[in-house]
Amino acid sequence: MSGFPTGASPVPGLRRDPEWFKTAVFYELLARAFSDTTGSGTGDFQGVISKLDYIQWLGVDCIWLPPFYASPLRDGGYDIADYTAVLPEFGTIEDFRQLVGEAHARGIRIITDFVMNHTSDQHPWFQASRSDPDGPYGDFYVWSDTDEKYDGVRIIFVDTEESNWTFDPIRRQFFWHRFFSHQPDLNYENPAVIDAMKDVVRFWMDMGIDGFRLDAIPYLIEEEGHNGENHPRTHEIVREIRAMVDEEYPGRILLAEANQPPAEVVDYFGSDEEPECQMCFHFPVMPMLYYALRDERAAPIIDVLADTPPIPAGGQWGTFLRNHDELTLEMVTPEQRAAMYGWYAPDPRMRANVGIRRRLWPLLGNSRAEVELIHALVLSLPGSPCLYYGDEIGMGDNIWLEDRDASRTPMQWTPDRNAGFSSADPGKLYLPVVDSLAFNRGAINVESAMAQPSSFLHWLRKVLAARKEHPVFGVGDFTVVESGNERVLAFLRTDKRNRTPEDRSARTVLCVNNLSSTAQGASVQLGVEYAGARVRDVIGGAVFNVVGDDGRVPVTLGDRGWFWLALETDEDRG
Ligand code: NOJ
Repeated sequence: MSGFPTGASPVPGLRRDPEWFKTAVFYELLARAFSDTTGSGTGDFQGVISKLDYIQWLGVDCIWLPPFYASPLRDGGYDIADYTAVLPEFGTIEDFRQLVGEAHARGIRIITDFVMNHTSDQHPWFQASRSDPDGPYGDFYVWSDTDEKYDGVRIIFVDTEESNWTFDPIRRQFFWHRFFSHQPDLNYENPAVIDAMKDVVRFWMDMGIDGFRLDAIPYLIEEEGHNGENHPRTHEIVREIRAMVDEEYPGRILLAEANQPPAEVVDYFGSDEEPECQMCFHFPVMPMLYYALRDERAAPIIDVLADTPPIPAGGQWGTFLRNHDELTLEMVTPEQRAAMYGWYAPDPRMRANVGIRRRLWPLLGNSRAEVELIHALVLSLPGSPCLYYGDEIGMGDNIWLEDRDASRTPMQWTPDRNAGFSSADPGKLYLPVVDSLAFNRGAINVESAMAQPSSFLHWLRKVLAARKEHPVFGVGDFTVVESGNERVLAFLRTDKRNRTPEDRSARTVLCVNNLSSTAQGASVQLGVEYAGARVRDVIGGAVFNVVGDDGRVPVTLGDRGWFWLALETDEDRG
Protein backbone atom coordinates (compact mmCIF):
# COMPACT_ATOMS: atom_id res chain seq x y z
CA MET A 1 0.00 0.00 0.00
CA SER A 2 1.56 3.27 -1.05
CA GLY A 3 1.78 6.54 0.81
CA PHE A 4 0.97 5.09 4.23
CA PRO A 5 2.59 7.14 6.96
CA THR A 6 4.44 4.77 9.25
CA GLY A 7 4.34 5.70 12.89
CA ALA A 8 7.58 7.50 12.18
CA SER A 9 7.80 8.97 15.68
CA PRO A 10 10.81 7.72 17.62
CA VAL A 11 10.08 4.32 19.11
CA PRO A 12 8.80 5.27 22.56
CA GLY A 13 8.62 1.91 24.36
CA LEU A 14 6.10 1.42 27.12
CA ARG A 15 5.01 4.26 29.37
CA ARG A 16 6.00 3.49 32.97
CA ASP A 17 2.63 4.15 34.51
CA PRO A 18 1.04 1.53 36.73
CA GLU A 19 -2.33 3.09 35.99
CA TRP A 20 -1.80 3.13 32.22
CA PHE A 21 -5.13 1.40 31.63
CA LYS A 22 -7.04 4.36 33.06
CA THR A 23 -6.12 6.63 30.17
CA ALA A 24 -5.61 3.99 27.48
CA VAL A 25 -7.47 3.46 24.25
CA PHE A 26 -7.93 -0.24 23.49
CA TYR A 27 -8.37 -1.78 20.03
CA GLU A 28 -9.79 -5.26 19.54
CA LEU A 29 -8.52 -7.09 16.49
CA LEU A 30 -8.88 -10.69 15.43
CA ALA A 31 -5.55 -12.18 14.30
CA ARG A 32 -7.55 -14.20 11.76
CA ALA A 33 -9.08 -11.07 10.27
CA PHE A 34 -6.26 -8.56 10.15
CA SER A 35 -3.62 -9.40 7.60
CA ASP A 36 -2.49 -12.58 5.85
CA THR A 37 1.22 -12.73 5.07
CA THR A 38 1.37 -16.33 3.84
CA GLY A 39 -1.39 -16.44 1.23
CA SER A 40 -3.30 -18.98 3.32
CA GLY A 41 -6.49 -16.92 3.28
CA THR A 42 -6.36 -16.38 7.01
CA GLY A 43 -4.65 -13.62 8.98
CA ASP A 44 -1.54 -14.33 11.06
CA PHE A 45 0.76 -12.88 13.71
CA GLN A 46 3.24 -11.56 11.13
CA GLY A 47 0.30 -9.79 9.53
CA VAL A 48 -0.53 -8.06 12.80
CA ILE A 49 3.14 -7.13 13.21
CA SER A 50 3.16 -5.62 9.74
CA LYS A 51 0.24 -3.35 10.71
CA LEU A 52 1.52 -2.17 14.08
CA ASP A 53 2.69 1.12 12.58
CA TYR A 54 -0.88 1.78 11.49
CA ILE A 55 -2.24 0.98 14.94
CA GLN A 56 0.35 3.24 16.53
CA TRP A 57 -0.42 6.01 14.04
CA LEU A 58 -4.09 5.84 14.98
CA GLY A 59 -3.28 6.42 18.65
CA VAL A 60 -4.05 3.02 20.18
CA ASP A 61 -2.45 2.17 23.53
CA CYS A 62 -3.42 -1.46 23.93
CA ILE A 63 -4.46 -4.23 21.56
CA TRP A 64 -6.92 -6.87 22.73
CA LEU A 65 -6.37 -10.13 20.85
CA PRO A 66 -9.24 -12.64 21.17
CA PRO A 67 -8.25 -16.34 21.28
CA PHE A 68 -5.56 -17.52 18.89
CA TYR A 69 -4.99 -20.81 20.68
CA ALA A 70 -5.29 -24.36 19.36
CA SER A 71 -8.98 -24.87 18.71
CA PRO A 72 -11.45 -26.60 16.39
CA LEU A 73 -12.86 -23.09 15.83
CA ARG A 74 -16.48 -23.88 16.43
CA ASP A 75 -16.82 -20.71 18.52
CA GLY A 76 -14.33 -18.30 16.98
CA GLY A 77 -11.52 -19.84 19.05
CA TYR A 78 -13.36 -19.52 22.39
CA ASP A 79 -13.42 -23.32 22.25
CA ILE A 80 -9.84 -24.03 23.30
CA ALA A 81 -8.21 -27.40 22.73
CA ASP A 82 -4.82 -26.46 24.18
CA TYR A 83 -4.30 -23.33 26.29
CA THR A 84 -0.59 -23.07 25.62
CA ALA A 85 -0.44 -23.77 21.88
CA VAL A 86 -1.26 -21.35 19.08
CA LEU A 87 -3.19 -22.22 15.94
CA PRO A 88 -0.55 -23.13 13.34
CA GLU A 89 -2.19 -20.96 10.69
CA PHE A 90 -1.51 -17.89 12.86
CA GLY A 91 2.20 -18.70 13.17
CA THR A 92 4.30 -19.94 16.04
CA ILE A 93 4.76 -19.10 19.68
CA GLU A 94 7.95 -17.32 18.59
CA ASP A 95 5.91 -15.18 16.19
CA PHE A 96 3.62 -14.31 19.07
CA ARG A 97 6.57 -13.40 21.27
CA GLN A 98 7.88 -11.20 18.46
CA LEU A 99 4.48 -9.53 18.18
CA VAL A 100 4.51 -8.65 21.87
CA GLY A 101 8.05 -7.27 21.58
CA GLU A 102 7.32 -5.22 18.46
CA ALA A 103 4.13 -3.83 19.98
CA HIS A 104 5.92 -2.87 23.18
CA ALA A 105 8.67 -1.14 21.19
CA ARG A 106 5.94 1.08 19.74
CA GLY A 107 4.45 1.84 23.14
CA ILE A 108 1.50 -0.50 22.52
CA ARG A 109 0.44 -3.06 25.11
CA ILE A 110 -1.23 -6.38 24.38
CA ILE A 111 -3.90 -8.21 26.31
CA THR A 112 -5.29 -11.59 25.31
CA ASP A 113 -8.28 -13.68 26.27
CA PHE A 114 -8.29 -16.05 29.21
CA VAL A 115 -11.21 -18.38 28.58
CA MET A 116 -11.63 -19.65 32.12
CA ASN A 117 -15.11 -21.03 32.16
CA HIS A 118 -14.94 -23.78 29.56
CA THR A 119 -12.78 -25.65 27.07
CA SER A 120 -13.49 -27.31 23.76
CA ASP A 121 -14.69 -30.91 23.98
CA GLN A 122 -11.51 -31.61 21.99
CA HIS A 123 -9.32 -30.56 24.89
CA PRO A 124 -7.26 -33.52 26.20
CA TRP A 125 -8.57 -32.74 29.70
CA PHE A 126 -12.11 -33.40 28.51
CA GLN A 127 -11.10 -36.45 26.51
CA ALA A 128 -9.46 -37.87 29.63
CA SER A 129 -12.39 -36.86 31.83
CA ARG A 130 -14.97 -38.60 29.70
CA SER A 131 -12.97 -41.81 29.20
CA ASP A 132 -11.45 -42.17 32.66
CA PRO A 133 -13.81 -40.88 35.38
CA ASP A 134 -11.48 -42.09 38.14
CA GLY A 135 -8.35 -40.66 36.55
CA PRO A 136 -6.64 -37.33 37.30
CA TYR A 137 -9.02 -35.40 35.01
CA GLY A 138 -12.19 -37.23 36.06
CA ASP A 139 -13.37 -34.20 38.08
CA PHE A 140 -12.14 -31.49 35.75
CA TYR A 141 -15.65 -30.94 34.40
CA VAL A 142 -19.14 -30.82 35.90
CA TRP A 143 -20.73 -34.26 35.47
CA SER A 144 -24.11 -35.52 36.57
CA ASP A 145 -26.29 -38.59 36.20
CA THR A 146 -29.30 -36.42 35.52
CA ASP A 147 -29.95 -33.32 33.49
CA GLU A 148 -32.15 -31.91 36.19
CA LYS A 149 -29.61 -30.27 38.46
CA TYR A 150 -29.31 -26.48 38.60
CA ASP A 151 -32.77 -26.10 37.19
CA GLY A 152 -33.57 -22.48 36.43
CA VAL A 153 -30.12 -21.45 35.23
CA ARG A 154 -30.78 -19.50 32.04
CA ILE A 155 -29.54 -20.59 28.63
CA ILE A 156 -27.27 -18.00 27.04
CA PHE A 157 -27.08 -19.22 23.43
CA VAL A 158 -30.84 -19.43 23.00
CA ASP A 159 -30.56 -19.71 19.21
CA THR A 160 -28.73 -23.05 19.35
CA GLU A 161 -28.98 -24.64 22.81
CA GLU A 162 -31.97 -26.21 24.52
CA SER A 163 -30.30 -27.19 27.78
CA ASN A 164 -27.16 -26.48 29.79
CA TRP A 165 -26.64 -30.26 30.03
CA THR A 166 -25.49 -32.60 27.25
CA PHE A 167 -25.29 -36.37 27.48
CA ASP A 168 -21.85 -37.82 26.80
CA PRO A 169 -22.16 -41.29 25.27
CA ILE A 170 -18.66 -42.29 26.38
CA ARG A 171 -18.87 -41.50 30.09
CA ARG A 172 -22.63 -42.08 30.02
CA GLN A 173 -23.26 -38.98 32.11
CA PHE A 174 -24.39 -35.45 31.41
CA PHE A 175 -21.87 -32.61 31.36
CA TRP A 176 -22.62 -28.97 32.16
CA HIS A 177 -22.08 -26.15 29.67
CA ARG A 178 -23.23 -22.51 29.76
CA PHE A 179 -22.44 -21.97 26.07
CA PHE A 180 -22.31 -24.39 23.12
CA SER A 181 -22.74 -28.11 23.82
CA HIS A 182 -19.19 -28.63 22.51
CA GLN A 183 -17.87 -26.34 25.28
CA PRO A 184 -17.93 -28.21 28.61
CA ASP A 185 -17.60 -26.01 31.70
CA LEU A 186 -14.57 -26.59 33.89
CA ASN A 187 -15.25 -27.65 37.47
CA TYR A 188 -13.95 -24.87 39.71
CA GLU A 189 -14.85 -26.83 42.84
CA ASN A 190 -11.80 -28.91 41.98
CA PRO A 191 -8.59 -27.23 43.27
CA ALA A 192 -6.60 -29.02 40.56
CA VAL A 193 -8.52 -27.03 37.94
CA ILE A 194 -7.58 -23.76 39.62
CA ASP A 195 -3.94 -24.82 39.78
CA ALA A 196 -3.92 -25.83 36.12
CA MET A 197 -5.49 -22.52 35.11
CA LYS A 198 -2.98 -20.54 37.17
CA ASP A 199 -0.26 -22.23 35.14
CA VAL A 200 -1.98 -21.02 31.97
CA VAL A 201 -1.87 -17.47 33.35
CA ARG A 202 1.84 -17.85 34.08
CA PHE A 203 2.58 -19.22 30.62
CA TRP A 204 1.21 -16.14 28.84
CA MET A 205 2.36 -13.60 31.39
CA ASP A 206 5.87 -15.03 31.04
CA MET A 207 5.50 -14.34 27.32
CA GLY A 208 5.19 -10.65 28.22
CA ILE A 209 1.51 -9.91 27.73
CA ASP A 210 0.10 -6.99 29.69
CA GLY A 211 -3.04 -8.64 30.93
CA PHE A 212 -6.06 -10.77 30.25
CA ARG A 213 -9.66 -10.27 29.38
CA LEU A 214 -11.44 -12.79 31.57
CA ASP A 215 -13.99 -14.37 29.28
CA ALA A 216 -17.43 -15.34 30.61
CA ILE A 217 -16.31 -14.78 34.18
CA PRO A 218 -19.70 -14.88 36.00
CA TYR A 219 -20.32 -18.56 35.36
CA LEU A 220 -17.47 -20.39 37.11
CA ILE A 221 -19.51 -21.88 39.97
CA GLU A 222 -22.99 -23.37 40.09
CA GLU A 223 -24.98 -24.54 43.07
CA GLU A 224 -28.45 -26.00 43.51
CA GLY A 225 -30.97 -23.20 44.01
CA HIS A 226 -28.60 -20.52 42.68
CA ASN A 227 -28.94 -18.91 39.25
CA GLY A 228 -25.37 -19.86 38.38
CA GLU A 229 -24.14 -16.30 37.91
CA ASN A 230 -21.86 -14.23 40.18
CA HIS A 231 -21.71 -16.90 42.87
CA PRO A 232 -19.66 -15.80 45.93
CA ARG A 233 -17.20 -18.65 45.24
CA THR A 234 -16.73 -17.31 41.70
CA HIS A 235 -15.61 -14.02 43.23
CA GLU A 236 -13.27 -15.86 45.57
CA ILE A 237 -11.61 -17.53 42.58
CA VAL A 238 -11.22 -14.24 40.73
CA ARG A 239 -9.62 -12.75 43.86
CA GLU A 240 -7.27 -15.69 44.05
CA ILE A 241 -6.16 -15.21 40.43
CA ARG A 242 -5.72 -11.46 41.01
CA ALA A 243 -3.64 -12.04 44.14
CA MET A 244 -1.40 -14.39 42.18
CA VAL A 245 -1.01 -11.90 39.31
CA ASP A 246 -0.26 -9.04 41.72
CA GLU A 247 2.36 -11.10 43.43
CA GLU A 248 4.03 -12.72 40.43
CA TYR A 249 3.31 -10.20 37.65
CA PRO A 250 2.61 -6.83 39.28
CA GLY A 251 1.14 -4.23 36.95
CA ARG A 252 -0.57 -6.68 34.59
CA ILE A 253 -4.30 -6.17 34.30
CA LEU A 254 -7.44 -8.29 34.44
CA LEU A 255 -10.46 -7.08 32.49
CA ALA A 256 -13.78 -8.75 33.27
CA GLU A 257 -16.26 -9.78 30.62
CA ALA A 258 -19.32 -9.89 32.87
CA ASN A 259 -22.46 -9.14 30.94
CA GLN A 260 -24.43 -8.28 34.06
CA PRO A 261 -26.54 -5.43 35.47
CA PRO A 262 -24.60 -2.45 36.88
CA ALA A 263 -24.92 -3.47 40.53
CA GLU A 264 -23.58 -6.97 39.81
CA VAL A 265 -20.84 -6.08 37.35
CA VAL A 266 -19.16 -3.71 39.82
CA ASP A 267 -18.57 -6.66 42.14
CA TYR A 268 -15.90 -7.85 39.69
CA PHE A 269 -13.75 -4.88 40.69
CA GLY A 270 -13.72 -6.27 44.24
CA SER A 271 -12.61 -3.68 46.78
CA ASP A 272 -9.37 -1.76 47.32
CA GLU A 273 -8.54 -4.24 50.10
CA GLU A 274 -9.60 -7.35 48.18
CA PRO A 275 -9.31 -6.48 44.51
CA GLU A 276 -10.61 -8.63 41.66
CA CYS A 277 -10.24 -7.01 38.22
CA GLN A 278 -8.73 -3.60 37.46
CA MET A 279 -11.23 -3.22 34.64
CA CYS A 280 -14.73 -4.42 33.79
CA PHE A 281 -16.54 -3.88 30.54
CA HIS A 282 -19.57 -1.69 31.14
CA PHE A 283 -22.14 -3.81 29.32
CA PRO A 284 -25.23 -1.93 30.52
CA VAL A 285 -24.24 1.48 29.17
CA MET A 286 -23.38 0.29 25.65
CA PRO A 287 -26.91 -0.42 24.33
CA MET A 288 -28.15 2.78 25.96
CA LEU A 289 -25.88 4.82 23.69
CA TYR A 290 -27.63 3.32 20.69
CA TYR A 291 -31.03 3.62 22.36
CA ALA A 292 -30.52 7.30 23.14
CA LEU A 293 -29.61 8.06 19.51
CA ARG A 294 -33.01 6.84 18.31
CA ASP A 295 -35.00 7.96 21.35
CA GLU A 296 -33.27 11.34 20.90
CA ARG A 297 -33.24 11.91 24.65
CA ALA A 298 -30.46 11.97 27.22
CA ALA A 299 -32.40 10.14 29.93
CA PRO A 300 -31.46 6.51 29.01
CA ILE A 301 -27.76 7.29 29.37
CA ILE A 302 -28.22 9.37 32.51
CA ASP A 303 -30.33 6.64 34.12
CA VAL A 304 -27.95 3.76 33.47
CA LEU A 305 -25.02 5.76 34.83
CA ALA A 306 -27.07 6.78 37.86
CA ASP A 307 -27.70 3.07 38.48
CA THR A 308 -23.97 2.33 38.29
CA PRO A 309 -22.41 2.18 41.76
CA PRO A 310 -19.01 3.81 42.36
CA ILE A 311 -15.94 1.67 41.73
CA PRO A 312 -12.76 1.30 43.81
CA ALA A 313 -9.97 3.83 43.29
CA GLY A 314 -7.83 1.27 41.47
CA GLY A 315 -10.54 0.40 38.95
CA GLN A 316 -11.61 1.63 35.55
CA TRP A 317 -14.55 0.82 33.30
CA GLY A 318 -14.00 -0.54 29.82
CA THR A 319 -16.45 1.00 27.37
CA PHE A 320 -17.16 -0.04 23.81
CA LEU A 321 -19.54 0.38 20.91
CA ARG A 322 -19.06 -2.94 19.14
CA ASN A 323 -16.99 -6.08 19.48
CA HIS A 324 -16.73 -9.53 17.89
CA ASP A 325 -20.04 -10.62 19.46
CA GLU A 326 -23.60 -9.56 18.78
CA LEU A 327 -24.62 -6.17 20.16
CA THR A 328 -26.07 -7.71 23.28
CA LEU A 329 -29.50 -6.60 24.44
CA GLU A 330 -29.51 -8.69 27.59
CA MET A 331 -29.15 -5.66 29.82
CA VAL A 332 -32.13 -3.67 28.54
CA THR A 333 -35.82 -3.89 29.44
CA PRO A 334 -38.18 -5.91 27.19
CA GLU A 335 -39.70 -2.65 25.91
CA GLN A 336 -36.31 -1.19 25.09
CA ARG A 337 -35.28 -4.44 23.42
CA ALA A 338 -38.37 -4.45 21.22
CA ALA A 339 -37.70 -0.85 20.24
CA MET A 340 -34.05 -1.59 19.46
CA TYR A 341 -34.89 -4.61 17.33
CA GLY A 342 -37.30 -2.38 15.43
CA TRP A 343 -34.79 0.41 14.95
CA TYR A 344 -31.64 -1.57 14.42
CA ALA A 345 -32.55 -5.10 13.25
CA PRO A 346 -35.59 -4.93 11.00
CA ASP A 347 -34.46 -8.08 9.14
CA PRO A 348 -34.58 -11.22 11.35
CA ARG A 349 -31.17 -12.19 9.92
CA MET A 350 -29.71 -9.23 11.77
CA ARG A 351 -30.55 -10.83 15.12
CA ALA A 352 -28.58 -13.42 17.07
CA ASN A 353 -29.41 -14.80 20.49
CA VAL A 354 -30.52 -11.76 22.54
CA GLY A 355 -28.83 -9.20 20.35
CA ILE A 356 -27.97 -7.78 16.94
CA ARG A 357 -25.19 -9.11 14.75
CA ARG A 358 -24.31 -5.98 12.81
CA ARG A 359 -21.40 -3.59 12.67
CA LEU A 360 -21.40 0.00 13.86
CA TRP A 361 -21.73 1.85 10.56
CA PRO A 362 -24.57 -0.19 9.07
CA LEU A 363 -26.35 0.03 12.44
CA LEU A 364 -26.22 3.79 12.25
CA GLY A 365 -27.33 3.88 8.62
CA ASN A 366 -23.86 4.96 7.51
CA SER A 367 -24.47 8.35 9.12
CA ARG A 368 -21.16 10.09 9.71
CA ALA A 369 -22.81 12.54 12.14
CA GLU A 370 -24.21 9.71 14.27
CA VAL A 371 -20.96 7.76 14.21
CA GLU A 372 -19.05 10.85 15.31
CA LEU A 373 -21.52 11.57 18.11
CA ILE A 374 -21.51 8.01 19.45
CA HIS A 375 -17.69 8.08 19.43
CA ALA A 376 -17.69 11.45 21.20
CA LEU A 377 -19.85 9.81 23.88
CA VAL A 378 -17.81 6.64 24.30
CA LEU A 379 -14.58 8.66 24.39
CA SER A 380 -15.82 11.10 27.04
CA LEU A 381 -18.02 9.06 29.38
CA PRO A 382 -16.25 7.35 32.31
CA GLY A 383 -14.03 4.45 31.23
CA SER A 384 -11.33 3.47 28.78
CA PRO A 385 -12.77 2.92 25.32
CA CYS A 386 -12.18 -0.23 23.29
CA LEU A 387 -12.51 0.18 19.52
CA TYR A 388 -13.28 -2.69 17.16
CA TYR A 389 -11.07 -3.20 14.11
CA GLY A 390 -12.55 -1.82 10.92
CA ASP A 391 -14.93 0.61 12.58
CA GLU A 392 -12.32 3.33 12.15
CA ILE A 393 -12.68 3.05 8.37
CA GLY A 394 -16.46 2.57 8.29
CA MET A 395 -16.44 -1.16 7.49
CA GLY A 396 -19.73 -2.86 6.77
CA ASP A 397 -20.98 -6.32 7.72
CA ASN A 398 -22.44 -9.34 5.95
CA ILE A 399 -25.63 -10.64 7.52
CA TRP A 400 -25.72 -13.51 5.01
CA LEU A 401 -22.84 -15.14 6.87
CA GLU A 402 -23.66 -17.33 9.86
CA ASP A 403 -23.90 -16.20 13.46
CA ARG A 404 -21.40 -13.52 14.54
CA ASP A 405 -19.23 -14.02 11.46
CA ALA A 406 -21.37 -11.21 10.07
CA SER A 407 -18.96 -8.76 11.66
CA ARG A 408 -15.72 -10.76 11.67
CA THR A 409 -14.80 -10.34 8.00
CA PRO A 410 -11.31 -9.42 6.74
CA MET A 411 -9.92 -5.97 7.46
CA GLN A 412 -9.97 -3.81 4.33
CA TRP A 413 -6.62 -2.22 3.56
CA THR A 414 -6.75 -1.33 -0.14
CA PRO A 415 -9.23 -1.33 -3.02
CA ASP A 416 -7.39 -4.30 -4.54
CA ARG A 417 -8.02 -8.05 -4.54
CA ASN A 418 -9.24 -9.25 -1.12
CA ALA A 419 -9.04 -5.62 -0.02
CA GLY A 420 -5.31 -6.06 0.43
CA PHE A 421 -5.92 -8.48 3.29
CA SER A 422 -4.53 -11.52 1.49
CA SER A 423 -3.02 -12.55 -1.82
CA ALA A 424 -4.98 -15.84 -1.78
CA ASP A 425 -7.57 -16.87 -4.30
CA PRO A 426 -10.67 -15.01 -3.01
CA GLY A 427 -12.53 -18.28 -2.54
CA LYS A 428 -9.89 -19.42 -0.06
CA LEU A 429 -10.44 -16.62 2.44
CA TYR A 430 -11.67 -17.67 5.90
CA LEU A 431 -14.62 -15.34 5.24
CA PRO A 432 -15.37 -13.20 2.19
CA VAL A 433 -14.48 -9.52 2.15
CA VAL A 434 -17.55 -7.27 2.49
CA ASP A 435 -18.44 -6.04 -0.97
CA SER A 436 -21.93 -4.65 -0.55
CA LEU A 437 -23.28 -1.67 -2.40
CA ALA A 438 -22.67 0.91 0.32
CA PHE A 439 -19.70 -0.78 1.96
CA ASN A 440 -17.71 -2.16 -0.95
CA ARG A 441 -13.99 -2.61 -0.58
CA GLY A 442 -13.29 -0.15 -3.40
CA ALA A 443 -14.52 2.70 -1.25
CA ILE A 444 -14.08 1.40 2.28
CA ASN A 445 -10.44 0.67 2.98
CA VAL A 446 -7.50 2.13 4.89
CA GLU A 447 -5.70 3.41 1.82
CA SER A 448 -8.70 5.43 0.61
CA ALA A 449 -9.38 6.74 4.09
CA MET A 450 -5.74 7.81 4.42
CA ALA A 451 -5.95 9.64 1.11
CA GLN A 452 -8.95 11.72 2.20
CA PRO A 453 -8.11 14.33 4.82
CA SER A 454 -11.80 14.55 5.70
CA SER A 455 -12.23 10.81 6.31
CA PHE A 456 -13.57 9.43 9.56
CA LEU A 457 -10.21 7.74 10.07
CA HIS A 458 -8.41 11.08 10.18
CA TRP A 459 -11.19 12.54 12.33
CA LEU A 460 -10.89 9.69 14.83
CA ARG A 461 -7.12 9.99 15.01
CA LYS A 462 -7.45 13.71 15.74
CA VAL A 463 -10.04 13.16 18.46
CA LEU A 464 -8.03 10.34 20.06
CA ALA A 465 -5.01 12.64 20.13
CA ALA A 466 -7.06 15.38 21.82
CA ARG A 467 -8.32 12.87 24.35
CA LYS A 468 -4.80 11.72 25.08
CA GLU A 469 -3.70 15.29 25.82
CA HIS A 470 -6.28 15.48 28.58
CA PRO A 471 -6.07 12.64 31.09
CA VAL A 472 -9.25 14.00 32.70
CA PHE A 473 -11.20 11.85 30.23
CA GLY A 474 -9.66 8.76 31.78
CA VAL A 475 -9.33 9.68 35.43
CA GLY A 476 -11.80 12.50 36.00
CA ASP A 477 -14.93 12.43 38.16
CA PHE A 478 -18.20 12.34 36.27
CA THR A 479 -21.14 14.62 37.07
CA VAL A 480 -24.29 15.08 35.01
CA VAL A 481 -25.32 18.73 34.78
CA GLU A 482 -28.69 20.21 33.93
CA SER A 483 -28.91 21.31 30.31
CA GLY A 484 -32.51 22.52 30.37
CA ASN A 485 -33.14 20.43 27.23
CA GLU A 486 -34.03 16.73 27.43
CA ARG A 487 -32.30 16.14 24.10
CA VAL A 488 -28.96 17.45 25.27
CA LEU A 489 -26.74 15.33 27.50
CA ALA A 490 -24.34 17.53 29.46
CA PHE A 491 -21.78 16.34 31.96
CA LEU A 492 -18.57 17.42 33.61
CA ARG A 493 -15.35 15.47 33.82
CA THR A 494 -13.15 16.82 36.61
CA ASP A 495 -9.58 15.85 37.38
CA LYS A 496 -9.22 16.31 41.13
CA ARG A 497 -5.72 14.89 41.42
CA ASN A 498 -2.78 17.01 42.53
CA ARG A 499 -0.95 18.21 39.46
CA THR A 500 2.43 19.61 38.64
CA PRO A 501 2.61 23.27 37.51
CA GLU A 502 3.79 22.08 34.07
CA ASP A 503 0.65 20.04 33.55
CA ARG A 504 -1.40 22.16 31.11
CA SER A 505 -4.09 19.56 30.48
CA ALA A 506 -7.68 20.54 31.18
CA ARG A 507 -8.79 20.15 34.78
CA THR A 508 -12.49 20.34 34.01
CA VAL A 509 -14.20 19.53 30.74
CA LEU A 510 -17.87 20.14 30.00
CA CYS A 511 -19.16 17.62 27.46
CA VAL A 512 -22.37 18.56 25.67
CA ASN A 513 -24.06 16.18 23.25
CA ASN A 514 -27.12 16.78 21.14
CA LEU A 515 -28.81 13.40 20.82
CA SER A 516 -31.42 14.66 18.43
CA SER A 517 -31.55 14.87 14.67
CA THR A 518 -32.37 18.58 14.72
CA ALA A 519 -30.34 21.54 15.96
CA GLN A 520 -30.80 22.31 19.66
CA GLY A 521 -29.97 25.04 22.14
CA ALA A 522 -29.20 24.45 25.78
CA SER A 523 -28.45 26.52 28.83
CA VAL A 524 -26.10 24.43 30.88
CA GLN A 525 -26.22 25.02 34.62
CA LEU A 526 -22.70 24.58 35.90
CA GLY A 527 -22.93 26.27 39.28
CA VAL A 528 -21.64 29.63 40.45
CA GLU A 529 -18.22 28.21 41.28
CA TYR A 530 -17.61 28.27 37.52
CA ALA A 531 -18.78 31.88 37.04
CA GLY A 532 -16.27 33.72 34.86
CA ALA A 533 -14.53 30.54 33.63
CA ARG A 534 -13.41 30.67 30.02
CA VAL A 535 -15.04 28.06 27.82
CA ARG A 536 -12.50 26.64 25.38
CA ASP A 537 -13.12 24.03 22.69
CA VAL A 538 -10.78 21.13 23.44
CA ILE A 539 -10.49 20.03 19.82
CA GLY A 540 -9.98 23.31 18.01
CA GLY A 541 -8.74 25.52 20.86
CA ALA A 542 -11.12 28.43 20.24
CA VAL A 543 -12.53 30.28 23.25
CA PHE A 544 -16.32 30.37 22.89
CA ASN A 545 -17.46 32.53 25.79
CA VAL A 546 -17.30 32.77 29.56
CA VAL A 547 -19.59 31.18 32.12
CA GLY A 548 -22.15 33.74 33.32
CA ASP A 549 -22.36 35.08 36.88
CA ASP A 550 -25.31 32.76 37.42
CA GLY A 551 -23.10 29.76 36.60
CA ARG A 552 -24.83 29.13 33.29
CA VAL A 553 -23.35 28.73 29.85
CA PRO A 554 -25.44 28.80 26.67
CA VAL A 555 -24.61 26.26 23.96
CA THR A 556 -26.00 25.84 20.46
CA LEU A 557 -25.55 22.47 18.79
CA GLY A 558 -26.20 21.30 15.25
CA ASP A 559 -28.04 18.00 14.75
CA ARG A 560 -26.07 15.22 16.49
CA GLY A 561 -23.58 17.95 17.44
CA TRP A 562 -21.26 17.80 20.42
CA PHE A 563 -18.51 19.77 22.13
CA TRP A 564 -15.82 19.04 24.66
CA LEU A 565 -15.32 22.38 26.41
CA ALA A 566 -12.48 22.98 28.85
CA LEU A 567 -13.53 25.32 31.67
CA GLU A 568 -10.57 27.49 32.56
CA THR A 569 -10.80 29.23 35.90
CA ASP A 570 -8.28 31.80 37.22
CA GLU A 571 -6.75 29.03 39.30
CA ASP A 572 -6.09 26.96 36.14
CA ARG A 573 -4.49 29.90 34.42
CA GLY A 574 -2.08 30.19 37.35
C1 NOJ B 1 -17.71 -14.75 25.25
C2 NOJ B 1 -17.10 -14.48 23.91
O1 NOJ B 1 -16.99 -13.09 23.72
C3 NOJ B 1 -17.96 -15.11 22.84
O2 NOJ B 1 -17.48 -14.81 21.57
C4 NOJ B 1 -18.03 -16.59 23.08
O3 NOJ B 1 -18.92 -17.19 22.15
C5 NOJ B 1 -18.52 -16.90 24.50
N1 NOJ B 1 -17.74 -16.18 25.47
C6 NOJ B 1 -18.43 -18.37 24.80
O4 NOJ B 1 -17.10 -18.77 24.75
